[in-house]
Amino acid sequence: MNFHELLNDNTIVKGKFVVWSDADMLSSIFDNYKKLKENHAFGVILHPEILKNYNHYQRELKEHPLIMKSSPPSAEIELTNRCNLACVQCLRSLGLKPYALGDMSFDDYKKILAQFPFLMNLSLNGFGEPTMHKQFFEVVEYTRKERPWCKIGIYSNGMLIDENKAEQLIHCGLTELNISIDAAYPDTYKRVRRGGKLEVVHENIKRLVEIKKHSKLDLPLIGINFVMLNENEGELVPFVEQAAEFGVDFVNCITYASYNWGFRNNRTPKNYRQELDAVSKRMEELNVRCKSFPSEDISWTTAEKEFDCDFFWGQDLRITHEGEITLGCCSPFKETFSYGNVLKQPFKEIWNNEKFQKNREMGRVHRPPNKTCASCDEYCKRFFAFENEVSLSNIGISC
Ligand SMILES: C[S@@+](CC[C@H](N)C(=O)[O-])C[C@H]1O[C@@H](n2cnc3c(N)ncnc32)[C@H](O)[C@@H]1O
Ligand code: SF4
Ligand code: SF4
Repeated sequence: MNFHELLNDNTIVKGKFVVWSDADMLSSIFDNYKKLKENHAFGVILHPEILKNYNHYQRELKEHPLIMKSSPPSAEIELTNRCNLACVQCLRSLGLKPYALGDMSFDDYKKILAQFPFLMNLSLNGFGEPTMHKQFFEVVEYTRKERPWCKIGIYSNGMLIDENKAEQLIHCGLTELNISIDAAYPDTYKRVRRGGKLEVVHENIKRLVEIKKHSKLDLPLIGINFVMLNENEGELVPFVEQAAEFGVDFVNCITYASYNWGFRNNRTPKNYRQELDAVSKRMEELNVRCKSFPSEDISWTTAEKEFDCDFFWGQDLRITHEGEITLGCCSPFKETFSYGNVLKQPFKEIWNNEKFQKNREMGRVHRPPNKTCASCDEYCKRFFAFENEVSLSNIGISC
């Protein structure tokens, strides 16, 4: 679509910045500008249709309709679910391997991407190591050409990034490169990221930072990732110090999504908060940027919290390497698995099908639509302690 074809008499263009007279368009840009900027999606400002869809989607996400008229602006496309490691926290390691191991073909990838014309934020991840896909770099280069405005990110375990791969990763068109580590010390790393070696990952990160610096490129942003697990309690501060030493662009810290897999967190709300406070202080001292950080607001862990899940409205939609549409949560393998297959049926037909509508209908009256969702830690109470053993109220926390 030619941008200039979209301009009307009332449109004002100032240098790189475009202002539309259309009220919807204007409010969309202004409402979302901060978010767009944070997501390095400047290009979108030149693509009004995409911006309009994004704005529409955000409205629908709040309103929770049964039928979605906008298209998802964010998705994860799984190029492969093969992996060279077996991390403790990963669904792959829990024996829940409901779908065959394999790779998405480049042709299928193109067919799938074409069905999501309004994507602004694409993650080439799933339950596998994306750098193991034989055509990984071709896929990213193709996507960058097809969708110049789109944020394209990956998470990688970083173990396979030799010199050759590092060069390509920096130059292929990625916006964001997250290297998952989850530990500050080699012993912990070995226990969590089974099959990996911390020394190798550290060397690979230093090389990536060096190549990017040498190439004088702003993108991709390079970050290191830490999932808060029982195994790595207390290691977040040294992890942040290592980030400063390596000169990466950001750290990313997330809580373990245990959903209904029976995980029990050793942290109490008190030491969880203490850990987060200490890390925030250290990040400030070292001037380390953070992409996301667990909230100190733990109200989502209370028993009283209403069922509420935006995944039924397509937040972070996932597409498996076989083309199945699953939800963005990590429980795609039970009742929540597959809403349809985009290689067999157009996404437009799946997006508002009976299954989606049924789940949306239940979800919007705060009732879990199935057993998996009913026991999901995403909204229930088991994040901090053994069930019935310690409740938040009996340790003095009221939410
Ligand atoms: C599923 S992995 C796939 C990409 C790549 N293999 C890697 O490890 O980065 C993507 C990210 O999800 C994180 N992850 C895996 N299981 C998780 C869980 N149960 N809760 C939160 N994050 C998880 C990983 O640590 C990693 O940072
Ligand atoms: S490296 Fe990534 S995909 Fe592989 S087991 Fe670990 S978390 Fe899962
Ligand atoms: S409530 Fe259901 S759909 Fe939502 S995160 Fe939990 S398991 Fe996934």
